Amino acid sequence: MAEKKGGTDSDVFLAFVTDAESERVLHEVSYSDLGLKPVIMKGDLEDAQRYLKVNRSPKVLLVDVSKSQLPISDMARLADVCEPGVEVIAIGHVNDVGVFRGLVNLGVRDYVVKPLTENLVVRNISAVQKGAVPQQATSFLGAGNVVTVLGARGGVGTSTIAANLGWMLSDTLHKRIYLMDLNLHAGVLCYFFDVSPLPGLVDLLGPEEHIDMSMVEKAFVSHTDRLSIATAQLALQDHFVPQVSSLKKTLSLLGQSSHYTIIDCPKNLDFNLMKTIVAESQVLIIVCDLTFLSVRDTARYLDLAKTVGPAQQRIFVVANRVGEYKKGEFPQATFEQVVHRSVDHCLPFDNAGVLEALNKGQPVSAQAGPFAKALPGLVQLLIGRELKAKKKGLFW
Ligand SMILES: Nc1ncnc2c1ncn2[C@@H]1O[C@H](COP(=O)(O)OP(=O)(O)O)[C@@H](O)[C@H]1O
Ligand SMILES: [Mg+2]
Repeated sequence: MAEKKGGTDSDVFLAFVTDAESERVLHEVSYSDLGLKPVIMKGDLEDAQRYLKVNRSPKVLLVDVSKSQLPISDMARLADVCEPGVEVIAIGHVNDVGVFRGLVNLGVRDYVVKPLTENLVVRNISAVQKGAVPQQATSFLGAGNVVTVLGARGGVGTSTIAANLGWMLSDTLHKRIYLMDLNLHAGVLCYFFDVSPLPGLVDLLGPEEHIDMSMVEKAFVSHTDRLSIATAQLALQDHFVPQVSSLKKTLSLLGQSSHYTIIDCPKNLDFNLMKTIVAESQVLIIVCDLTFLSVRDTARYLDLAKTVGPAQQRIFVVANRVGEYKKGEFPQATFEQVVHRSVDHCLPFDNAGVLEALNKGQPVSAQAGPFAKALPGLVQLLIGRELKAKKKGLFW
C-alpha cells in the first residue's frame, strides 16, 4: 500500500472513465499547465473504489457514474475510501437535476453530463487549483468531525473507548483519524498502539501564531497511514495551561485533513477548555458506568452540552464496564431514571480482553471478547449506519 499520511496526493489528477471518447478527451488536457500529474484509467465507480482503498487519494478525482444504477449511494460509498480534502468531479450521461443535487450535496464539486470536453475538465480543475468555493461548501462526505469522549468518572474507560473507536473507524471504515489525548501530564493513548509519543502536542496548545500543519506533524505519531496519535507526558512539576484560541486553531487544522478528530478529554481539564471542546464537538460521548458514582457528572456533562454544545450536536451516553459488580450496579433502567436520559449503548465488563490488549499495545477491537463484540454497535451509532462485517467473526 502506498504511504498515506494526512491529506491527499497533492498533485495528482486521477480519472476513472467508462468510455473511450471520454478517455481520449482526458488525454488531450495539458495537466502540467494546471500543476497536476494525470493518472487516467478505464473503469467505473467500483473500480475507483477498489483503487482508492489501497492508494492515496488524488487532489482531484474524476469519476464516471454512468454505469451506476444508484449514483448517489454509490458515490457515498466511494467517499468512505477517500481521504479528506479530495475534490471530486462526477461525469455521467443522465441529465437529471436530482442526480446533480444529490451528488453536489455529498460534496461533489460538479456533475458533468457527457460528452466530456477538454474545456469542462480544464475549467473544473482550474477552479480547484484557484481554491474557488464549490457549489456546496461541504467537503466530500463527512470530513472534519470532532468527537469528544468525556468520562463521568476516572477509570470508567474513556481512553479505552477513544482509542478503540479511533482504531475501528480507521481500520474498518478507512477513515482518517487524529486521536488527541488532552491529559497532558499523564497521557495514555499512545500505549494502546504501542507507539512512542512525539513531543509536539504541548506546542499545538501554546502560542497560537506559530501553529500550522508542520507542527501537527511534530505532535502526532502515525500508527497506520490513517491513524495518528498525540499524547503528552509533562513532568508533574511542569505547569502548563493550554490556550483556548490555540486549541480552536489546532482543531480546525486537524479537521482539514481528517474525517474525525477524537479527543480523550480528562476530567480535571481546565473548565474553559472543556467548554470550548464541547462547543467545538459535533459528537459528544459521555462514558459512565452504571454506578451511583457516575450519576452526578453524567448529568452535569449533559447540562454542559445543552448550554454550550452546537445545535446539531449528537450526544451519546455510553455505559462501560457493565456487569463488573455483582452487587451495587444500577439496572440500566434505574440509571436512566436517575440521569433523566437513556443510555445509548452498553459495553460489558471484559475481565480478560481489555487490559490484555492494552498490555500488548493492540486495539481491543482487533480481538474477540465481549468488549470487542459490543464496540461495533457504538461505531454504528457514531456513523449513523450499519457496519458490514469485514472478516467473518470479527464483529459478531
Ligand atoms: N469494558 C471494560 N472491561 C474491563 N476493563 C476495562 C473496560 N474498559 C476499560 N477497562 C480498563 O479500565 C482501566 C481504565 O480505563 P481507561 O480507559 O484508562 O479509563 P479512563 O480513561 O476513563 O480513566 C484500564 O485498565 C482499562 O483496560
Ligand atoms: Mg483516561
